Amino acid sequence: MYKLYCRIYQGVMKIGMYLLPWSMPKVIEGEGSIRKLPSLIKEKGFKKVLIVTDKTLVGLHLLDGLFASLKDEGIEYVLFDGVDPNPTDLNVEEGVRLYKDNGCEAMVAFGGGSPMDCAKGIGARIARPKKSIAKLQGLFKVLKRIPLIYTVPTTAGTGSETTIAAVITEAKTHHKASINDLSLMPKYAILDPELTVGLPPKTTATTGMDALCHAVEAYTNNTYNSKLEKDLSKKATKLIYDNLYKVYLNPKDIVGRQNLQRAAFYAGRAFTRGSVGYVHAIGHTLGGLYGTPHGLAMSILLPHVMKAYGEKAYDRLSELCDVCGIKADSDTKEAKAKAFIAWIEDLKVKMDIPLYPEYKDEDVDQIVAWAYKEGNPLYPTPVTWDKEDFKKFILSLK
Ligand SMILES: NC(=O)c1ccc[n+]([C@@H]2O[C@H](COP(=O)([O-])OP(=O)(O)OC[C@H]3O[C@@H](n4cnc5c(N)ncnc54)[C@H](O)[C@@H]3O)[C@@H](O)[C@H]2O)c1
Ligand SMILES: [Fe+2]
Repeated sequence: MYKLYCRIYQGVMKIGMYLLPWSMPKVIEGEGSIRKLPSLIKEKGFKKVLIVTDKTLVGLHLLDGLFASLKDEGIEYVLFDGVDPNPTDLNVEEGVRLYKDNGCEAMVAFGGGSPMDCAKGIGARIARPKKSIAKLQGLFKVLKRIPLIYTVPTTAGTGSETTIAAVITEAKTHHKASINDLSLMPKYAILDPELTVGLPPKTTATTGMDALCHAVEAYTNNTYNSKLEKDLSKKATKLIYDNLYKVYLNPKDIVGRQNLQRAAFYAGRAFTRGSVGYVHAIGHTLGGLYGTPHGLAMSILLPHVMKAYGEKAYDRLSELCDVCGIKADSDTKEAKAKAFIAWIEDLKVKMDIPLYPEYKDEDVDQIVAWAYKEGNPLYPTPVTWDKEDFKKFILSLK
């Protein structure tokens, strides 16, 4: 009965998704494209911006060129470099204070998913000063224009530069959850591959696997996708198949880096309508409870969840197998689906990603409760799991 309720909910959501005004950010891409950002800001008449980033990136001098060119254009900036990986509501509040105290007019979100999501959280809290982050989490709770955000992704993973999501952890409870609202869709995405060449191989691997996870989960899900999202999922999967391991071995491969940035963007846009699935529902709990980097949690869980979906996912996974041109033992959907999962498993091993996640036995009930709440009834996964299914699955990960 419960599973039927989930399917009915998803059917209603499908109609809602069809009616929503989906958009995409304006993309400025290519080597050195970051240098175009100040003139884009000037074009809009903004005189002061808040730059949201993290200390590692400032320490790597990745923002030096931006600081200099903003000065040249006469644009003032306030630097907020206090974003933690898996950003918290406390990070967001600090950013809100800096934005307001300094009279900023827009934001530049410079970094991986963490700074981009934090900037979206700051924007949501500025638009809705009376609602806490916890109250804004969920679906369509902002419903108001937020300050304009220029996104500059420095990982090729989350796709936050083109999603309606901001994933924020509540510092007190460690509950990690997403604010999902069309107003969070960024207006600009600067995809400059030069900014990602210094990304260490390990982070390249796990963030790239996050993008793969978006593409695969969006593609294997039922209902919400339109043809656009399905095509974007396929394009992203193929780009990752062709480029991730290559770039892992040769970090300075600028064309490969650009391809991975595109893949992350396509996969982000695919899942923001097509939705993610139980890899994300479970992975977020590991990020919240143990600080497990998001991409790492995704990389570990992806093949396990796809296997656990079983035959209900064969159709779609076999199509992705064909898209990549992976050789299967036979021409059946089952053989192709299994060959696709085997490629992911092999990639994990080659990129030194652990096979199983680390978690504490005493947390299993909490993991189940949060994953179940995040995944159901919203995620239109090929198979619907109840709490017992989640528990069995998590206990099998050893
Ligand atoms: N909004 C969305 O749609 C969405 C989707 C998926 C994930 N997320 C969220 O995004 C966050 C993860 O983002 P992420 O995986 O991009 O990691 P991140 O932003 O947390 O960055 C990971 C680490 O890599 C470093 N780093 C980033 N770019 C670098 C570079 N070019 N060179 C060297 N070091 C660099 C950072 O300083 C940080 O230490 C999680 O909180 C996750 O839940 C959001
Ligand atoms: Fe993700």
